[in-house]
Amino acid sequence: GMQTVGKLMKVFVTRRIPQEGMKILTTAGGCEVSLWDSDEPVPRADLLKGVQGAHGILCLLSDKIDAEVLDAAGPNLKVISTLSVGFDHLALDEIKKRGIRVGYTPDVLTDATAELTVALLLATARRLPEGVEEVKNGGWSSWKPLWLCGYGLSGSTVGVIGLGRIGMAIARRLMPFGVKRLLYSGRTAKANAAEVNGEFVSLDTLVSESDFIVVSCSLTPETQGLCDKAFFSKMKNTAIFVNSSRGAVVNQEDLYEALTSGQIAAAGLDVTTPEPLPTNHPLLTLKNCVVLPHIGSATYSTRGVMGALSAQNLLGGLQGTDMPSELTF
Ligand code: NDP
Ligand code: DGY
Repeated sequence: GMQTVGKLMKVFVTRRIPQEGMKILTTAGGCEVSLWDSDEPVPRADLLKGVQGAHGILCLLSDKIDAEVLDAAGPNLKVISTLSVGFDHLALDEIKKRGIRVGYTPDVLTDATAELTVALLLATARRLPEGVEEVKNGGWSSWKPLWLCGYGLSGSTVGVIGLGRIGMAIARRLMPFGVKRLLYSGRTAKANAAEVNGEFVSLDTLVSESDFIVVSCSLTPETQGLCDKAFFSKMKNTAIFVNSSRGAVVNQEDLYEALTSGQIAAAGLDVTTPEPLPTNHPLLTLKNCVVLPHIGSATYSTRGVMGALSAQNLLGGLQGTDMPSELTF
């Protein structure tokens, strides 16, 4: 059972989460759930206070879980369950040192995130936000042969940086648009790439030959700032850049420069640094930059399943049994 010598296991949940997850935690029995009852992030001081003595923490990607938090929690802590597939906010070395298990939410958000990434790519390439704006502000004077033209996928070369679960799901969805070549880069060639005729190439080749570049890798020390001045300068002037991984993979000053100097055609970002992006950020002044508020996995059903999975991961960690999705590190 979930009790240690008759005492309840303490759980800290850092935010309101989908009811599918909360229901699992509250009906589990044996655990005392303390919730940061807000839709906004828990302030750092309240996080450090909330985790004190906790056996389990259910956190979000906006909570940095580092040595300070782990020390604040103390020796009871057995499990950290994050409501995300990304785990760059977790100090894994510190977590490992303390023998704490980690749960995350792979697979269940792959389809939703791939779908959103395709939507963002099309919206950026075909200038949808600009078009919507022109209809509203009277800029639409007539059908004009040279107005609001963009770029199409048919016959194009697409480059996917990081052909993992989501990268592969994006590639599968893009191929039916008539993509001619699908390039991908990463640390290792992927066996399932054959399904999309994927060609494993160097990053340099991918960047210089692609008409559309989609970033779907994880954020690691190696991928931090990967898309910088040198990267954008190798891209075609007519190419579209899309990022749905993590904002820190991109050097935003360099992206701004590439977008204003005509070095690249346009960019679509679902992720930025910081999040939220300040409303006075230079990137938001550009017509050829489409910025979304990190909504890749935001469908009702996907968020519900993520909530349930993160709760089940937490319970498994508390009980010392299998977790449905345990991160091995
Ligand atoms: P996976 O682990 O399946 O895929 C990550 C891929 O990144 C792997 O294929 C890995 O390739 C690749 N990668 C690692 N290092 C590099 C590198 N140096 N260059 C190129 N590729 C690299 O994870 P998911 O597909 O499930 O998720 C990917 C990321 O997407 C998450 O980490 C998260 O940050 C982000 N995400 C964003 C969402 C949003 O709302 N926008 C929603 C969900 C996820 P290899 O195996 O060769 O190392
Ligand atoms: C993740 O899960 O890592 C996304 O960024 C949000 O779903």
